[in-house]
Amino acid sequence: MKLAALSAIALPVLVSAHGIRDVHHARQASAAASSPAASAATSSAPAASASGAATAATGAATPAASGPGSLTFTLSSTNPSAVPLTEIASGMSSAPTVPASTTFAAGSTPTFLPNAPPLPNALSLNPANYPPLDKTPPIDSPEVQQWIKEVNASGIQIPDFSPTVAGGCPTNPDAVNDQSRCWWTCGGCAAADDIEQCPDKMTWGLTYDDGPALYTGELLSYLDQANLKATFFVVGSRALSYPALLQEEYMAQHQIAVHTWSHPPMTTLSNEQIIAELGWTKKIIKDVLGVTPTFWRPPYGDVDNRVRAIAKAMGLQTSIWTRISAEATFDTGDFDIAGGLTTSTQVLNNWENIIGNATTIDHGFIVLEHDLFQQTVDIATGYILPDALAHQPPFKIEPIISCLNKPLQDAYIETNDNASNPIGMSSAASAGVPSASDGAHTTSSQTGASATGSASSAEASGNSSGASANGNNSAMGIAAPSSMGAIALALVSGVVALFM
Ligand SMILES: *[C@@H]1O[C@H](CO)[C@@H](O)[C@H](O)[C@H]1NC(C)=O
Ligand SMILES: *[C@@H]1O[C@H](CO)[C@@H](O)[C@H](O)[C@H]1NC(C)=O
Ligand SMILES: *[C@@H]1O[C@H](CO)[C@@H](O)[C@H](O)[C@H]1NC(C)=O
Ligand SMILES: *[C@@H]1O[C@H](CO)[C@@H](O)[C@H](O)[C@H]1NC(C)=O
Ligand SMILES: [Zn+2]
Repeated sequence: MKLAALSAIALPVLVSAHGIRDVHHARQASAAASSPAASAATSSAPAASASGAATAATGAATPAASGPGSLTFTLSSTNPSAVPLTEIASGMSSAPTVPASTTFAAGSTPTFLPNAPPLPNALSLNPANYPPLDKTPPIDSPEVQQWIKEVNASGIQIPDFSPTVAGGCPTNPDAVNDQSRCWWTCGGCAAADDIEQCPDKMTWGLTYDDGPALYTGELLSYLDQANLKATFFVVGSRALSYPALLQEEYMAQHQIAVHTWSHPPMTTLSNEQIIAELGWTKKIIKDVLGVTPTFWRPPYGDVDNRVRAIAKAMGLQTSIWTRISAEATFDTGDFDIAGGLTTSTQVLNNWENIIGNATTIDHGFIVLEHDLFQQTVDIATGYILPDALAHQPPFKIEPIISCLNKPLQDAYIETNDNASNPIGMSSAASAGVPSASDGAHTTSSQTGASATGSASSAEASGNSSGASANGNNSAMGIAAPSSMGAIALALVSGVVALFM
């Protein structure tokens, strides 16, 4: 049953008939106090009478790129202390952050994870022992040279494709048309063992990318109170900046996975650079947690058979997100709110399309969302998660490792059951064979069609199909790393300020 109807020109009536009543953060409370719409939200208005309380809000909520009034969506529930949608926007005033709630003592034992080593002393990390933040690490270090040898010794064949050039699909027509490359970004080709979905219908493999970051603590607090576990795809540079938050994620039994050191489009890198990006991210995570992930997600979904093979040789399972057609990728577009390339109403409109599709397909799904920004966390905790939790029929919401019906131990090299779940060996020969069973795989002719759209999500690369789900016309290409770098640098200086 849908309880609240929201649109771009009517401020949401926030109804607390369902969902998490006791999630309460100081900053959300203060946001609520200053806004009529949000204070309406704090009174648990029954659905029937809620519509009368709608407040008109013209202008502020008008989507940037689509026609006003064209965006409608309904939510089964929202968080009573949600930040009003109109405030979840580019340039929103920054709210106090939730620091790591606990600093775990070095030597604490992750008792939930059989065979896990004790926690290292993450707070004694020396940044001088790691590459510069937010840049592809140099390949001449002893560490990277050693990892190159290990990849070589793995016996996994690395296809001899040249890196793609910046610009995404339009600037790489040969690579797009080369079926043997199986480039997911441009055309949606997936390898047989790529993780794009959960096997069981109505099951959502919950994921957050690009953290840990300033607002991750708030998301963790919500997930904790909602008793939800997620997969966090961690950027190595952020792990070095926020080790205590990474430990909190891990000790709360979320799945920790690799999302590269500096968030580049991986197909543009040399083999050695790919090894450096993955190797340093594995290393910082192990140095902070004592365990090394067995799953990774390519930034922007930018992966081809060369990148897949290197990841596999490094013990990493490629995981992307669900794409059931060029028009329906399960990307909320949340990343782009902070940069002003999309709006919170557009993101909720995308979300409605995602769950509409999720309830019609005969398998489970994985959605692209981020814990990097205040905006992405606010929309997740205020709207998307409460709506998903109240959805009927219910979704089963769990980390990717769990939705694959594997134990959490299999998420880490050190605790993995090597007998039942061999890492990096299983299907080397099959990498690159598109799976026949999945309607997600499109042909290169569809790629041409999607190239006429434009990418709005920074997580979808230039002109790829990720754009169409978002339905706006802002162009943000595969060159996004520079903005990502700028964002990351802002975060880093924010952290310095925080500690001063
Ligand atoms: C990889 O191994 C081959 C021999 O098996 C050797 O010729 C080559 O130099 C090695 N490359 C690297 C980068 O170690
Ligand atoms: C699936 O997603 C597409 C693209 O966003 C959307 O047009 C369509 O309405 C969705 N289907 C359902 C059943 O919601
Ligand atoms: C599985 O193999 C890895 C090395 O590849 C090892 O570190 C780990 O301890 C093994 N897992 C178990 C449960 O023994
Ligand atoms: C996207 O495609 C359009 C037209 O095909 C082109 O003009 C534009 O430069 C492309 N953008 C990127 C980021 O590749
Ligand atoms: Zn990312």
